[in-house]
Amino acid sequence: MPKTGGYSVDIELTINGERTIVEAGSGDDLATVLRQHGYIDVKCGCDGGTCGASKIFVDGEVRMACGMEATDADGSEIQTVAALGTQADLHPVQQAFVDNFAVQCGFCIPGMVIQAVALLDSNPDPTEQEVREALDDNVCRCTGYQKPVEAVLDAAERMQGEQSVAADGGHPVTVAQHGDESTSCCGGDCDE
Ligand code: FES
Ligand code: FES
Repeated sequence: MPKTGGYSVDIELTINGERTIVEAGSGDDLATVLRQHGYIDVKCGCDGGTCGASKIFVDGEVRMACGMEATDADGSEIQTVAALGTQADLHPVQQAFVDNFAVQCGFCIPGMVIQAVALLDSNPDPTEQEVREALDDNVCRCTGYQKPVEAVLDAAERMQGEQSVAADGGHPVTVAQHGDESTSCCGGDCDE
């Protein structure tokens, strides 16, 4: 419900399954507003639109939250990386990033994971080249990309059931029933 005559407006979003009203300044981008409201798993790694760190799902589509005016998201369903899994039950893509040592500083990982989930949703058995193309606009200053690519290919295998045992000691990877309580962005390897 918009405030009248003010600098900011209230917009209604469903964020990680929870319907909420957030205040957005006119011209504020969605990434900034989400972070101001505690969704710090949405990262901002550039001046806007070039690093991919701020990728989230908006109504099921991958969007760079930094490149979208918050007011344009009014009424939308938002999913950030934290809602893909919990600390105890990571999404297979998150788990694969951990198990393949694909996380260093972790800053790019939320955007990478979101993009990888979208890729595997549309293409469950991608080639390495297809993974590299999908991650093409996700900039990582740490890993050199090889480990994230390996992680996505590993996640694809896990999600297809071709490799259903995690590398940490043989616990089956559970694809379904991911909760919504975690605030971790990458599976616990980074601070915010
Ligand atoms: S902060 Fe959104 S693409 Fe870099
Ligand atoms: S930017 Fe540090 S892990 Fe990608």
